[in-house]
Amino acid sequence: MIDLSNSKPFASGGNRHCYHHPDFPDRCVKVMLPGRVAELRQRAPWYKALARDSHFDDNAREVAGYRQRVLRSASSHSSVWEHLPRWYGMTETSEGPGAVSELLLDEQGAPAMTLETYLKNVGLDVAIRDALERFSQWLRATGVLTKNLLPHNLVVVTRNRQLELYLVDGLGNAAFLPLSEHFSISRRRYIQRRIEKMWKRIHWEISDRSIPWKKAERA
Ligand SMILES: Nc1ncnc2c1ncn2[C@@H]1O[C@H](COP(=O)(O)OP(=O)(O)OP(=O)(O)O)[C@@H](O)[C@H]1O
Ligand SMILES: [Mg+2]
Repeated sequence: MIDLSNSKPFASGGNRHCYHHPDFPDRCVKVMLPGRVAELRQRAPWYKALARDSHFDDNAREVAGYRQRVLRSASSHSSVWEHLPRWYGMTETSEGPGAVSELLLDEQGAPAMTLETYLKNVGLDVAIRDALERFSQWLRATGVLTKNLLPHNLVVVTRNRQLELYLVDGLGNAAFLPLSEHFSISRRRYIQRRIEKMWKRIHWEISDRSIPWKKAERA
């Protein structure tokens, strides 16, 4: 059991707090925000509210995401890990079940900045465009399935003197019927769609955002 009761998260998303792992400097532990599962369940339409707790739990969805076929069967040297934090499984913590994964660090040893922050601070420069291109190529080549690719769920790391992107949240299949898990045409189409949506979101984030994202997404 990991005691996090006196620790402060180094970052938090809409669903989880992220803590430094007390025993491994290169790992983080993610715990659902207190009361978040119940809150999401309450907000869901009735037919979704019938689902198990794991449906509303980002950690449970991450476990499923790391169990997808291409990751399950990959060796530890495989290229499927090139843009993903290593996965160390679930563990008990004082704040509830914790998901342990590789903590991505910048050159100063601090948690790496998100693509969202990079776009705000630096913009869509050549270095990050190239990194996005390599990340997209890797998705197509490996067939790793992701949900929608959002800039706050990608972090920017320097590797061999160039920028690389890592997906720290959002593995798995957004589709209701996981056809893309089994059919390669469906998989290719699904991945291409995620990449196009990612670019749409990036262009929206660097725009003046006069159109709300939900509307821009449909356009
Ligand atoms: N492996 C990691 N290495 C470095 N930073 C990370 C890592 N995982 C998460 N972070 C940081 O913590 C933030 C929140 O983590 P994460 O996206 O997993 O939480 P979440 O609450 O599930 O997110 P969301 O709001 O997208 O549902 C990220 O945006 C990122 O800044
Ligand atoms: Mg997130």
